[in-house]
Amino acid sequence: MDGYRVAVVGATGLVGQEFIKVLEERSFPMTSIHLLASDRSAGKKLFVNHREIEVKETAPESFKKIDIALFSAGSENSRYFSPIAARAGAVVIDNSSAFRMVPAVPLVVPEVNAEDIKWHKGIIANPNCSTIQAVVVLYPLHQANPIKRIIFDTYQSVSGTGAAAVEELTVQAKQVLDGQATTPHVYPHQIAFNVLPEIDVFLDNGYTKEEWKMVEETRKIMHADDIAISATCVRVPVFTGHSEAIHVEFSQPISPDEARHILAQAPGVKLLDDTAISLYPHPWSVAGSDEVFVGRIRRDASQPNSLVMWVVADNLRKGAALNAIQIAEEMIKHDWVKPGGAK
Ligand SMILES: NC(=O)c1ccc[n+]([C@@H]2O[C@H](COP(=O)([O-])OP(=O)(O)OC[C@H]3O[C@@H](n4cnc5c(N)ncnc54)[C@H](OP(=O)(O)O)[C@@H]3O)[C@@H](O)[C@H]2O)c1
Repeated sequence: MDGYRVAVVGATGLVGQEFIKVLEERSFPMTSIHLLASDRSAGKKLFVNHREIEVKETAPESFKKIDIALFSAGSENSRYFSPIAARAGAVVIDNSSAFRMVPAVPLVVPEVNAEDIKWHKGIIANPNCSTIQAVVVLYPLHQANPIKRIIFDTYQSVSGTGAAAVEELTVQAKQVLDGQATTPHVYPHQIAFNVLPEIDVFLDNGYTKEEWKMVEETRKIMHADDIAISATCVRVPVFTGHSEAIHVEFSQPISPDEARHILAQAPGVKLLDDTAISLYPHPWSVAGSDEVFVGRIRRDASQPNSLVMWVVADNLRKGAALNAIQIAEEMIKHDWVKPGGAK
């Protein structure tokens, strides 16, 4: 198989590191890999497939002769560099929120809307981590029995914020156990031994931007503008793995067993649901896995035609790097990207 010339922008970050791991694990067909980050990391060496590669500062010239550019360096950098990369001929798969709700940019979770990749114009957006894991589980149920309303309550790990937040939890946990005072830098309050109902900025409607991303992105990915959605997103002192309690109202009656039957066959989903033996997913056990895990499926006692479920996934893998690489693999499978196609 011919290989692709791949660039990873933000290669030194948590998602960038996961990109490298996933590309290696899946033997992604590459003839070259270009590791890009800020000027702070220029000259640093990272290993890819046992080869030492030097990290370069990201610049407009970085994207010459790149077929696929995987971006995870924040919205501002994506907004500036992604169009440059796309104009140079690369297909950009962007992990930031910069382009997700732009109508001309497909927002893709391959298990749900792979066909949307086809109409990209150089940039494809990777959804928010908490939205990705939710739609992988909700979409097969929606196909069987259209969803009318969803309420998301999330419990999101600190790695979702990046490397600095992982460091902040590590330092604060030690300080609290040593009886010392903590000083928050990344979050507005102490995150160790605490939970914070604030992810991203507050909007005028009282929701946070993270909550509103779940509302808008779920509708865009599932092509379902009429689903009523609400969300409360909470940061918890967990290193890796986002958990979500999802309350779903369907058009028709649906039993927990019917939902289990559908989800047992759904792509990318793993059912862990046996309360008799305390079998349900939790972030500690799910970190490092590719699938989206679901358990605790039960009737919602407060509402007819409704179920409640507990959904957990690794936010750095399916929530970020893996989903983006699955998009690239889908393009390769359908011959939508040509190796050596970029000038
Ligand atoms: N973490 C998640 O679960 C997750 C999930 C979905 C999407 N995302 C998105 O992915 C992006 C990165 O997240 P992360 O968790 O990997 O953050 P991170 O650990 O803080 O890493 C940030 C990366 O961006 C690079 N960077 C910063 N400024 C740059 C610049 N001016 N030019 C080029 N590169 C620059 C950094 O390079 P240096 O090391 O040189 O500073 C680093 O490689 C964000 O947009 C985030 O919203 C994250």
